[in-house]
Amino acid sequence: MLSTGNILKNRILIIGSNGMLGQRLLEYYKKDNFTEIFCASVEPESFIKDIDYKQTDITNKNDIKALMRAFYPDVVINAAAYTNVDKCDTEKETAWKINALAVENIAKYSFAYNAHLIHISTDYVFDGLNGPYTEEDKVNPVSYYGRTKLAGENAINSSNVKYTIIRTNVLYGPAKHGRMDFVKWVVNSLREGKNINIVTDQINNPTYIDDLVKGIDSAARLSKEGLFNIGGAEFLSRLDFTYRIADFFNLDKNLIKPIETRELNQPAKRPLKSGLINLKSERDLFYKPLGVEETFALMKNELNL
Ligand SMILES: NC(=O)c1ccc[n+]([C@@H]2O[C@H](COP(=O)([O-])OP(=O)(O)OC[C@H]3O[C@@H](n4cnc5c(N)ncnc54)[C@H](OP(=O)(O)O)[C@@H]3O)[C@@H](O)[C@H]2O)c1
Repeated sequence: MLSTGNILKNRILIIGSNGMLGQRLLEYYKKDNFTEIFCASVEPESFIKDIDYKQTDITNKNDIKALMRAFYPDVVINAAAYTNVDKCDTEKETAWKINALAVENIAKYSFAYNAHLIHISTDYVFDGLNGPYTEEDKVNPVSYYGRTKLAGENAINSSNVKYTIIRTNVLYGPAKHGRMDFVKWVVNSLREGKNINIVTDQINNPTYIDDLVKGIDSAARLSKEGLFNIGGAEFLSRLDFTYRIADFFNLDKNLIKPIETRELNQPAKRPLKSGLINLKSERDLFYKPLGVEETFALMKNELNL
């Protein structure tokens, strides 16, 4: 957790604070007496109460400017994004505005206010032909979502802002509001006795959100700049991940139907052999992801799953 030992508090602005990651960042920093937080998301109200919150549409330059002027942050964490991969393919203009153009403006105003920008990106910047990937590997997005996220990264890179870009993949964890993550969806579906189709050919290292939160906090606290991967502890196929969920929560594995990605006929292409190698963040951010079952135990406990 950020702590200076000084009476002056670190001022952290969390953009996208109603999102899955944003909520957990907010819960984490709420407990830190050395940090003052200010939050923003597109909805009229914050899902988590008793915090300073400003409704903000990041596609509106004036909204971003007003946010900076209202708070003068030391650190800006951008967890806002247009994250529906298939909809990005059909709503290209909106996706571009949120994931690329808005990020350019967040970088511009973070620079103007002398703040350290920490921005979250994705393994979808890769084609998934030969993952897992390091920070040095060549990008080649295969979906429009991936292209917009890469454009966001490039906008930050070519700005003058002090920045950290963190790429992550398949987030899951104990966020309590908004859309369901993969783990909760599997648990709920199997408990209801529903058959679920799970792909055998998408490989990555699913990331426990609270591990990512700690990685982000390290980047802020240690003032580490540049590009970092933050993924989970194990590389596994989505099918194997689902079996691990079913085993841990004692659910009926016969309801899990293996399928290949191409059979799903999704509008957007997915990187198949993907995942993110954590070596750099382990070395520079002291990142240490929890084991898969440890994360399930934490979710079970916190969410009463
Ligand atoms: N989830 C994953 O598996 C995953 C994997 C790799 C990388 N990432 C990256 O990690 C970051 C956080 O993801 P997440 O899963 O927490 O996403 P999320 O749950 O979809 O949260 C994103 C938040 O941004 C908000 N938002 C959208 N448009 C906005 C706008 N114009 N102005 C202000 N706020 C806006 C969303 O509001 P609405 O919900 O109302 O639209 C939502 O609250 C994103 O950068 C994402 O690309 C996520």
